[in-house]
This record gives sequence, C-alpha cells and structure tokens, in this order.
Amino acid sequence: MKYGYFDDQKREYVITRPDTPLPWINYLGCEAYFGIISNTAGGYSFFRDARLRRITRYRYNNAPYDVGGRYIYLRDDSSGEFWSPSWQPTQNKLEEYSCRHGMGYTTISSKYKGIEASTRYFVPLDENVEIWQLNVTNHRPQAAELSVFSIIEFCLWDAQDDSTNFQRNFSIGEVEIEDGVIYHKTEYRERRDHFAFFACSEKIAGYDTQREAFLGPYRGWDNPAAVERGHCSNSVAHGWAPVGSHHVKLSLEPGETRQINFVLGYQENPRDQKFDPPDSQIINKKAAKAVIAKYRVAANVNAAFEKLRLYWNDLLGLCQVDTPDVHTNRMVNIWNAYQCMATFNISRSASFYESGIGRGLGFRDSNQDLLGFVHMVPGRARERILDLAATQLASGGAYHQYQPLTKRGNDDVGSGFNDDPHWLIIGVGAYLKETGDWGILDELVPYDNAPGSETPLYEHLQRSFRYTLERLGPHGLPLIGRADWNDCLNLNCFSDSPGQSFQTTTNKDGKVAESVFIAGLFVLAGSELAEIARHRGLAAEAATYLAEVAKMDATIHKHGWDGEWFLRAYDDFSRKIGSKENVEGKIYIETQGFCTLAGIGLDDGLAAKALESTRKLLATEHGIVLQQPAYSKYYLEYGEISSYPPGYKENAGIFCHNNPWVVIGETRVGNGDAAHDYYTRINPSAREEISDIHRCEPYVYAQMIAGRDAPTFGEAKNSWLTGTAAWNYYAITQWILGIRTSYEGLLIAPVIPKSWRSFKARRKFRGVTYQIEVQRAGDGNKVCLEVNGAPIQGNLVPLPPAGTKIVVVKATLR
Ligand code: BGC
Ligand code: NOJ
Repeated sequence: MKYGYFDDQKREYVITRPDTPLPWINYLGCEAYFGIISNTAGGYSFFRDARLRRITRYRYNNAPYDVGGRYIYLRDDSSGEFWSPSWQPTQNKLEEYSCRHGMGYTTISSKYKGIEASTRYFVPLDENVEIWQLNVTNHRPQAAELSVFSIIEFCLWDAQDDSTNFQRNFSIGEVEIEDGVIYHKTEYRERRDHFAFFACSEKIAGYDTQREAFLGPYRGWDNPAAVERGHCSNSVAHGWAPVGSHHVKLSLEPGETRQINFVLGYQENPRDQKFDPPDSQIINKKAAKAVIAKYRVAANVNAAFEKLRLYWNDLLGLCQVDTPDVHTNRMVNIWNAYQCMATFNISRSASFYESGIGRGLGFRDSNQDLLGFVHMVPGRARERILDLAATQLASGGAYHQYQPLTKRGNDDVGSGFNDDPHWLIIGVGAYLKETGDWGILDELVPYDNAPGSETPLYEHLQRSFRYTLERLGPHGLPLIGRADWNDCLNLNCFSDSPGQSFQTTTNKDGKVAESVFIAGLFVLAGSELAEIARHRGLAAEAATYLAEVAKMDATIHKHGWDGEWFLRAYDDFSRKIGSKENVEGKIYIETQGFCTLAGIGLDDGLAAKALESTRKLLATEHGIVLQQPAYSKYYLEYGEISSYPPGYKENAGIFCHNNPWVVIGETRVGNGDAAHDYYTRINPSAREEISDIHRCEPYVYAQMIAGRDAPTFGEAKNSWLTGTAAWNYYAITQWILGIRTSYEGLLIAPVIPKSWRSFKARRKFRGVTYQIEVQRAGDGNKVCLEVNGAPIQGNLVPLPPAGTKIVVVKATLR
C-alpha cells in the first residue's frame, strides 16, 4: 500500500493523504539555518545547532505525534468555520490534499469548501531565514471573506533547558513588536547577541505573542481561541511561552488568488551594537529589517527559490546515472544524494527520532558520511575533516562526538571507542581520491583543540594507525574499548544498574576484550594509509604499514575465523562472540561485511565462504539482519546489544548501515547479482509498495528495519540520519556501477547484475565531466576500456590534460 508517488521529473515525493503511518519529513536549509518539516507542517527550526540554538519549539513523543510546527489557520469569516490547510492541527476533512517534499523545500496544498491554499516552505541560500509562501485561491462562485492566522512557538534557545527548567524559563520570555514584526529576544538583555523575528508581507489586523492568549486556557492547537473568535488580542509576552501569530484579513473575489509571505528569521548582532539606541534595552533591528524588507517583495521570494533550485540542480548534476532499474536511478540521481547532504549537515542530531539535544556530530559518523557527500561539497568536506581532526586526542583516540556550534569535543561522552581513529583515515582517503588535494595533509591541526598542539593532518593519521597497535589484546587483535562500530557491543561495561549509560559506563579495565571488526577496519585503513604515504614519497613508511596490515590479516585468519564465517569479538573472559560455539549471537554481519569489503580472504576462499554463510543465516527478504540467533535475554558481559528485544536495533534488527558492506563484499567476489539484490532489499523506493509495513518515508533510508525475530518484521525506524545513506550511495555508485575514485584517477570497474545489458552515467570528477557508457558483451566483470575512442589497457581512466572538459568512456564487460 502507498501513501503517494514519486515525481522524478520534479525531484519530489508527493504524499497524497495526510495520515501517513508516521510523520514523513523533509529538511529545510543548506548551510546554517535548518529545519525539519513533516507532511502536515510539523517540525522546528534551528541555527547551526539543534540543541544550543533552537528557534522554535516541537514536542517530541507527544500524543498525537508531530505537535508543534509552522501552522497556518484559515477562517471563513462569514460562517466562523476554520481549518488548517496542512491538515494538522485541526484535522478537518480536506477535499484535496498533497504534500510535495522536494530538494530543500516542501509544498503543502489543499482545498476546503472551495478555498485552495498552497504553502511552499523553504530556506533561501546564504540567508538565515525561512519563508512560507502562501497562495490562497477562491474557487467559490461568490466572494470570500477570510482570515489567515500564522503561528509558531518560540524556543528559549537551549532546547534541553527549554524543556526542563521551568522555574526560570516561565519568567524570562521577552518580545518586541514593531511594524507588525514579532521579535523574540529572550535572554538578549544579558549574554545573548541573537534574536529571532517573524514577519508577514501584508498589513496585519492583529497579533499575539503570548501562547495562552492565542490558545485560550486549556485549549490545544486544534482549537485556538483567537482563531475561533476571529481576531488576536495583541498580547505581549512577559515570561511564560512566547509565540508569534499574525492575523491577516483577506477578501477574495471568485477565482482570485492572493499571495502572503511569512518570514521567520535568526539574526546576530555585534556585541557592541546590540541595542538601539545604545543605552536602551531595545534590539538593534537594522540588519533584520533589511532582510525582512527584501522578502516582503514577492519577486525576491521567487528569485530566492529559483536560486535554491539551481543549487540542487548543480549538486545532483555531478553524478547522474541511467540504469535498467528505476529504483537505482531514483535513489542515485535524487534521493540518496539528497539524504547524504542531510547527514552532512545534521549528522545524527535532528530528525523525528533524534531530538536535537542528545548527539552532536559523531566522529565515526561524520567521517563515514564523507563517502556520500565529498563529491558534492569538497570544500566543505575539507573543513569538516579539519574540524573532526581537531577533536582527536594526542593519543590518537578521538572524542566520540562534538557540538557543531562550538566545534569542541563532547565531554559527557568522551572517548575510548577504539574504532573511531581509523574512520579519519577512511574519510581523508575518500577526500584525497575525490579531489587530489594533497595539500590538506600539511594543514596544521591541533589535538583536542588545544592551541600549541598543532601538527600536520598527516600526523593525525599516523597517530590513528598507531592507536590500535598500542592497544592489542591477548590474540593480537585490537582491544575494543567502550565499543567499536557497534555502539551496543559493550564488552567492558558490565552494567547492572538501570539508567547507567552503556556508552560511558566501564567497569572492566579493558585489557582483554578484542574486536575482529576493528581488525578488519585496521586492514582497510592501514592499506589506505600506505597508499597515502607512498604518494607523499614515504615508501619505507608505506612498507611498514603494509607489513602491519599483513600481520593483522594473518591474525584474523588465525584467531578471527570460525570455520565458516568471521568471528565477531572476544569478550572480557576471552570467550568467542559470533561463533558456532555460542548459543545465541553465533554469526554477526559486521565482520562478514567489513572483512570481505576490506579484501580479507579473497584469495583463499574465506571471503566467499563468509558471504555464503551470510546468505544462509542472516539474509531475509527485508534485508540482512545484524546477528543470529537474536539474544533472548540480557547478557551482563555484552551490554546494550542484549538490552533490545529480539529483532530490534542492534539485537538482530536489519541495521541498514552495514548491509552495503555485504553489498561491496559481494562485488569484491564478483557477484553482481547478489550485490544488487541486497541493495534492492533495503532500497526505500523499492519498498514503496509496502509502505504500510515499512511505515517510514519511501524516499530515504532508515537506520533500522525490524528483523525476522521481531513481531513487526519489515517495519522501518529512525529514518533520515544514518550512515546507511553514505554507504549505500558509495556501494551502488563506486562498487556496483563501479565508477570509483582512486588516488590515481577514476576507475571503471562495474559489477552489475547479469541481466543488465548496459547503463550510462555522467560523473564530474576533479573538474572534468566523464560520460560513461557500459555495455555487456559477456557474463563476466572483465572490463575493456575505450577512452575518447581509443582502447586502453586496464581499467583506470588516465587523468586528462589540464583544461579538458569532457572525457568519453566506453567500457565493455566480458
Ligand atoms: C543505539 C545506537 C547508537 C547509540 C549511541 C544506542 O542506544 O542503539 O544505535 O549508536 O545508542 O547513541
Ligand atoms: C548509530 C551510531 O550513530 C553509529 O555510529 C553506530 O555505528 C551505529 N549506531 C551502530 O551501533
């Protein structure tokens, strides 16, 4: 069952009924001002940091869900009837409804009793505002006398404090109202130098800024007193809950359309120019007024939207493919790339599932996300890498997370996740392969942001590598620390008290439990580092890395192989995890995927065997589950993984992030059919038809799909912010389609299904557009290349001479 359809021409998903199984959201904003918006206009906005600079309020986990948003009410002033054109919060039975989620904008349209309303929400590039572009059309045979009410609820900036510290917060709310513009200035009198404003393009009939004055006591958003009565009360918030509401009167002739633009913005003032006049407590509104004046003009609003459209055209245009599979095309060309940009901007901080207060930017997360966005925003990827590296510790370890506003490591979570440092090597490697910008390695970057501690970025990578060598366990495998990629495999935690954080509680000294996953990661990262060293002219150093890699590979063969698959780990008693010896958790996906993608066991059949076991024991029609059998009870010595009921999250859920590792593993053994089959099982577009089971958005990946042990097998959760986006993008474009960046240039190495006769792609790489056509002439994966009409040896397209704009590549598979 479906709740809408893809409009690929317009790059939109069109939701055709408002009561989706869950709020289906989109993101607004590209650089600093961001928001989430649901298909019924729920959601909130923030500046850079969803915790520290929350602009509007949202109520997570409320009933009904998705409460708090960018709401508009329409009221028929002749009958007194009112409704929400976005369905929420009044939930009137609309005659028509659609929500078009597009690239950086959302348009919600509806019709009720002959009145059509369509609101396009977007954030212009380079400006800290959002615009609600509302068009109201009267389709009635007679004139309509209408009232329009806008409403948002301001957050008192720190979203965590805002939702807990009521003894203070009920007394500090402050606003100013000038020329119909509502300014939210809580705490501006003291240490803040920023405020928010909410403006309207039309002359207003009234306003409200105190929530209870607008709603009326004991009323909800579905039935505000001001709307029922037909006018606001010009309330001025002193403490309690500041809101912004404009009331606009609208007389529409039959067939007439009127546009109203609302502008919600964020503004910072220089410290010494906060007030106007300087000795007053009145906000200096000069800069804000200029922005408001600009967007009061409809033509400027349209121009800003056009600019945004071109921005996305350019970004997505960098890699476009035309394959026999519609779901592949749609995800690669539109939604998967778009989702990669969301994870770049928001990491894991703000979605319908991420409250914006819990997790800043994850070190391993952001480094992996690079794989998906580096080709679109290389300049910003560079900055991200340097920011991440600056939170690395002198030991080579890393803060697990940092706050985007301060760019400082998060002390609450700290470090000790022993996989973290290697992701920096993977991230930097991806950046170098894409850009060829070797200069980044000489950038001076501090450790833990401490001035004076700077070394070249290259040394950060060296320390990352050494970090593991200095932390090997009894079998010569890497010690796991708090956890590796699987945050929930906590082998030193031994937590027996409710409420303790599995992520930060550590009751064992951590000298025994080892991770085969980190060993696989070490092999991959070490090989990358060796290549990087070689390119820097450090051949001897490269050789030492390769020697360590070979040693680790041998250790994995010796102590990390269980007979038919790769082991997962050794626990604090040096007992195996992910072994046939275990009663539960006999086989895990992570090591099957990661070891094979890292090339371990390719020559001696171990990789093929591990993939075969994966197929036999872990693969389901909804994707590959994380382990089997699921843990049926809590294991003190394993930690959070066994805290989840069977089939959910890391306890045998389909944790989509690691499915593409198996996909890449399959391409490494040359099995294009299996690779694309696994790719398709979790492809959200390919799951659109079962939206009633999948339940999350059909246009973006979710972190998890409930596994076969769960009563809700096939149900997705935690959509949008997941490493799944980058890894799937990387797996399909670079490994299945095989258009792969390398240190030397672009490789063409497709491993596609046997049934595909051909595909085409256009990929911009280091300033040159590659027009690629791949044809099948046999069942295999052997590539014969022609570049600009001339046959060449091997599958590396040589870097063209400077100034070249287009390179034509023809590949024949035999
Ligand atoms: C989740 C993990 C997550 C971790 C850290 C756990 O509860 O299951 O997926 O990485 O928390 O936030
Ligand atoms: C989500 C986290 O963001 C990611 O870093 C981790 O690898 C997975 N959960 C698996 O636990």
